[in-house]
Amino acid sequence: MENIRLEYRGETAVLTVDRPKALNALNSATLREMEEALSLLEEQKDLRTVIVTGGGEKSFVAGADISEMVNASAPEGREMALLAKRCFERLEQMPVVTIAAVNGYALGGGCELAMACDIRVAAENAIFGQPECGLGILPGFGGTQRLARLVGKGLAKELIFTCRRIDAQEACRIGLVNQVVPQTELLESCLAMAEEIGRSAPLGVAYAKQAINAGLDIDLDSGLQMEANLFGLAFATQDKHEGMTAFLEKRKEKHFSGQ
Ligand code: CAA
Repeated sequence: MENIRLEYRGETAVLTVDRPKALNALNSATLREMEEALSLLEEQKDLRTVIVTGGGEKSFVAGADISEMVNASAPEGREMALLAKRCFERLEQMPVVTIAAVNGYALGGGCELAMACDIRVAAENAIFGQPECGLGILPGFGGTQRLARLVGKGLAKELIFTCRRIDAQEACRIGLVNQVVPQTELLESCLAMAEEIGRSAPLGVAYAKQAINAGLDIDLDSGLQMEANLFGLAFATQDKHEGMTAFLEKRKEKHFSGQ
């Protein structure tokens, strides 16, 4: 892979979009490499978290690649959006937790990539925005859908229609990012959060993620029914027995097997 780097830190993988000459902009080749990387991650048995970040200190991902899109036809534009849809949905549906470590510009497709992750941690220099309408298009890698779900319909419309860029603090205030940390501490903060998540039971986390993700797209009653089903499934796991026994035995140490 040329534009995607994968590194492992214990039970955490760090996926870096690394295309410095274009501030990590996503062209089709990079999206296909990302799919390849996701296939590798899906095969990892002991993985608990994936941190997604951008190479260098200036940019997370500066959007879809404008030089590739400039001469693209309508069917080609649609194909590109469908490629990103497939890739980002796969990321979103991973059973492990994904954290976007936003280390600079997260514009257009970059903001959309961050939103496909479960949690977003931003460095103080991060800048978010959906500038697509200023380019004569609209967000096409999930922005109209995921931004509205994260910050609400009104704010999503304002940000998309005005193309306004916002800084990390504002992104945090409106709920687009979970927390803001100094730039030099970004990766460490994400790794610390990954470690915290790693102390929870893998299947508990995976079922909770599934319930939250799917629940937001259905009515409350169906969501509660799905939660009850997953709650029942969790009772069939070894880790439910271990977690509860450890509590009753007043043990701090828990030995979750992921089963
Ligand atoms: N596509 C292609 N190339 C890009 C790019 C992008 N999205 N963003 C940056 N680059 C390239 C620049 O063309 C430049 O290349 P050259 O050195 O060959 O000229 C290089 O990266 C460095 O960029 P700048 O010189 O512009 O750096 P800067 O510090 O002055 O500005 C920036 C940084 C504000 C991020 C600016 O590069 C910028 O505005 N980029 C475009 C952001 C954007 O509009 N993103 C949305 C794209 S559309 C989209 O994403 C659709 C969708 O929904 C999926």
